Amino acid sequence: MKSFYLTTPIYYVNDAPHIGHAYTTVAGDVLTRWHRQRGESVWFLTGTDEHGQKVMRTAQENNVEPQAWVDRLVADAWKPNWTALNIANDDFIRTTEPRHTERVQKFLQSLKDSGHIYAGKYEGPYCVGCEEFKLPGDLIDSDGAKLCPIHSKPVEIVNENNWFFKLSAFVEPLLKHYKENPEACQPESARNEVVSFLEGGVSDLSISRSTFDWGIPVPWDTDQVVYVWFDALLNYATAVGLTDAPDSEGGKKFASTWPADVHLVGKDILRFHAVIWPAMLMAAGIAVPKKVFAHGWLLVGGEKMSKSKLTGIAPSDITDHFGVDAFRYYFLRAIPFGSDGSFSWEDMSARYTSELANDFGNLASRLAAMVEKYCDGKLPAKSGDKTLESALTETVAKADAAMVALDFQGGINAVMDFCKKVNGYVTEKEPWILAKDPSNKAVLDEVLYNTAESLRALAVLLHPVMPATTEILWESLGANSAIGSIGTQKISDVATWGQLPQGTSVTKTPVLFPRLETKE
Ligand code: MSP
Repeated sequence: MKSFYLTTPIYYVNDAPHIGHAYTTVAGDVLTRWHRQRGESVWFLTGTDEHGQKVMRTAQENNVEPQAWVDRLVADAWKPNWTALNIANDDFIRTTEPRHTERVQKFLQSLKDSGHIYAGKYEGPYCVGCEEFKLPGDLIDSDGAKLCPIHSKPVEIVNENNWFFKLSAFVEPLLKHYKENPEACQPESARNEVVSFLEGGVSDLSISRSTFDWGIPVPWDTDQVVYVWFDALLNYATAVGLTDAPDSEGGKKFASTWPADVHLVGKDILRFHAVIWPAMLMAAGIAVPKKVFAHGWLLVGGEKMSKSKLTGIAPSDITDHFGVDAFRYYFLRAIPFGSDGSFSWEDMSARYTSELANDFGNLASRLAAMVEKYCDGKLPAKSGDKTLESALTETVAKADAAMVALDFQGGINAVMDFCKKVNGYVTEKEPWILAKDPSNKAVLDEVLYNTAESLRALAVLLHPVMPATTEILWESLGANSAIGSIGTQKISDVATWGQLPQGTSVTKTPVLFPRLETKE
């Protein structure tokens, strides 16, 4: 069976992760968790991009060999960061691993053998920050210097005899591909950019470098190393067994994952993924990815947040204050996926308090407190409420459609709107007033049961976004022993009302979203 295969970019290990990197990986984690809860088989890959001049120079500046530098950063910064953010990736690829380097060499040799690679000379500007050969028109003029518009740093002039990939031969096939498969590059603005870039004409690409040696040797010319992007893009396929024999373990993995369903990328690296990468695959006769989705940038002071501009914020700066789940929730909830968005401490505090602590967390703690007080901690008999039930059915359909289309904001909004409805239901029914008169017991029981069922649904629907908090809520609803662990709950079953049995023990949780400490 073909798995839903999603990748994040592999990140440069010249420095520790910041919230821009975390934004992409969290989005990938939420989407893959959602697909798992749809009952699909899923493969989620992330990793690190370890070759090239940028990483090499940083290692040199720190007086460390590049290999030692990347080993240390991966072990001390990158992997622990993903663990801390509760990222459930199935694999982690490093481009210095033999499973990658050997397959890259095999792939490159096959392109050479089939006539897609030739010897040439490259002369032109190069941005080490982007690791990209630039066109003169891409650059900005500043007092006579030519700057990379992304890094605001001077480009360098490269003048080398290199190996070239016949990228220009794929302009027409790529244009045809995007015309016939508009979903292959999303959102629409990203596709339009790629199409007009292709229509403007594309030159062949230098795919090797000869002035430094931190990279994968070109198999037939070991004085050269493979251009870092050509090396890096291949990770998506080498990690799942590209070039392995069909009946080998790698070959079988490849058959069950390829083509990738979604390559998630920031818009800064769209062209690499939507032009160079599919052309490489076309040249090798391999299926192209089903979708490249380019999201926007997290901005600080109106510019792309980055470590090199000293505007990088470490994920722990935020999670220490708001917790991991609020971090995972906030960026996907607040910024339409595909657009740029500014991070603001005030906006995050406001949403934390109103949406997470008040709307969601309070509902959970009120229910547990009332079941304890009015029903000895045992869930009353099953009942239903037509309005809540149909709102839930609608919510699940809306949220599912939005999430699979990578509209995280729309998906989360749909679920939080349902949460608001449930709060409205509790406010209107006033169970604390009903409890004052024993003749209302039947109605009180109904209200509590319906609220518990609503929380069951909310826990499952929010689980991909906030795995730890919803696990606590699940525990509090007594749902583990009643209907199994939260991770095994299917999206398609969420709207089936009446799953929690009568008599289930409901217990008070620790506060799901504690009041925020005032930030100095
Ligand atoms: N190594 C390449 C990618 C190779 S993929 C075959 C690379 N690495 S990177 O470390 O610079 O990370 C780039 C990715 O990090 C972006 O595409 C984006 O997903 C994420 N982000 C980095 N800064 C970001 C923001 N300020 N905002 C949002 N995402 C950002 O490029």
